[in-house]
Amino acid sequence: MKVLIVGGGGREHAIAWKISQSPKVEKLYCAPGNAGIAKVAECVDIGVMDFEKLVAFAGEQAIDLVVVGPDDPLAAGAVDAFENAGIRVFGPRKNAAILEASKAFSKDLMKKYNIPSAAYETFDSPEAALAYLETAPMPIVLKADGLALGKGVLICSTREEAKEGVKTLMLDKQFGSAGDRIVIEEFMTGREVSVLSFVDGKTIKIMTSAQDHKRAKDGDQGLNTGGMGTFSPSPFYTDEVDAFCRKYVYQPTVDAMKAEGREFKGIIFFGLMLTESGPKVLEYNARFGDPETQVVLPRMKNDIVDVFEACVDGTLDQIELEFEDNAAVCVVLASDGYPEHYDKGYKIDGLDRFDGQDGYYVFHAGSRFDKDGNIVTNGGRVLGVTAKGNTLKEARENAYKATEWVEFGNKYMRHDIGKAIDEVGVVM
Ligand code: AMP
Ligand code: GLY
Repeated sequence: MKVLIVGGGGREHAIAWKISQSPKVEKLYCAPGNAGIAKVAECVDIGVMDFEKLVAFAGEQAIDLVVVGPDDPLAAGAVDAFENAGIRVFGPRKNAAILEASKAFSKDLMKKYNIPSAAYETFDSPEAALAYLETAPMPIVLKADGLALGKGVLICSTREEAKEGVKTLMLDKQFGSAGDRIVIEEFMTGREVSVLSFVDGKTIKIMTSAQDHKRAKDGDQGLNTGGMGTFSPSPFYTDEVDAFCRKYVYQPTVDAMKAEGREFKGIIFFGLMLTESGPKVLEYNARFGDPETQVVLPRMKNDIVDVFEACVDGTLDQIELEFEDNAAVCVVLASDGYPEHYDKGYKIDGLDRFDGQDGYYVFHAGSRFDKDGNIVTNGGRVLGVTAKGNTLKEARENAYKATEWVEFGNKYMRHDIGKAIDEVGVVM
């Protein structure tokens, strides 16, 4: 088979690595890819939003399967574009990708189909939002309706902060038109868990659980980022939580989308909060998580191409997902200053230390080749260093050991990925 991946981050590197393990795949392309992805795929210089060129390339190369990684192209109809040209593609169509692309849509869906989530109201005008905030209980959560790189969520502890938030989202338009409409939501507390799943329109198969660390600094301080590190599995995702979510969240979501005439094929990523009154959905994503994918796929035993094809063909009920009985930790090596201002273009040394090291992976999130062929930093998140271990503790120790193998200018990381677990005394 010839396979094309659309995307160029750490998530796509993990997907590319996993696809490259499949004996079915003879040629793998990635558009645009990055300097790490270039090790397992041929990178093609086409942007993720340039559907015309992507479709033309897939046609010319007689691509057998396309996998679309990021949210923006999915929300804008990349899958529809490939399908219209008769090319097999894995991912949700535009009318289903709305599950992530509009928070108002997903909240309304959950309400209509009794899927547990936080209470909320939707607002199209800042005046109405401000009036509502006069009497709403604090703290409270403000969410831009549209896609905002995971940064369009404001947790406000006071009324003043919340009003300021309305201004930021709706008047100053910090996230552009994503903030034309906002959702104001009840503040919940509890452990967060990420659960990824494969969906073929009617059947859903759950992958192993993971947890992200979204804040930039140790101890969950600092700004929200795309994710500074992950671990899998989450010890908080118990059999009881799993059983509850299978009954009240996972299949009901797939059935709800089908009932709405928005059949979902692809990945549904459930962002869950384990509250005192049970698991609730914080958000849906219509794609693999980044960096959740970097800890989930290295533990997956299946040939991922079989699973992608089963989703496209509607035969997922015949697939049994299997995961290794171990743990993985991914520590993101970022450019100091991320998610705000940071410099790029520093040479990355030591990448070859990972060659031939079983259970250790370096997934590139933001890297490129300079004119001399050196690999240099090219983003806020630069590398995702992942390691496996028999326990989470062992995986964490291995991952942190491997973070020392690579060096680049302004290298920055959190030192407590997966560590919160020790503090609450869960046996790893
Ligand atoms: P989201 O993009 O909707 O997942 O929100 C980003 C982050 O904001 C989540 O991972 C949570 O940490 C936090 N968050 C979102 N919604 C709520 C809520 N209703 N209550 C408390 N925290 C929330
Ligand atoms: N790591 C969170 C996300 O991919 O949305």
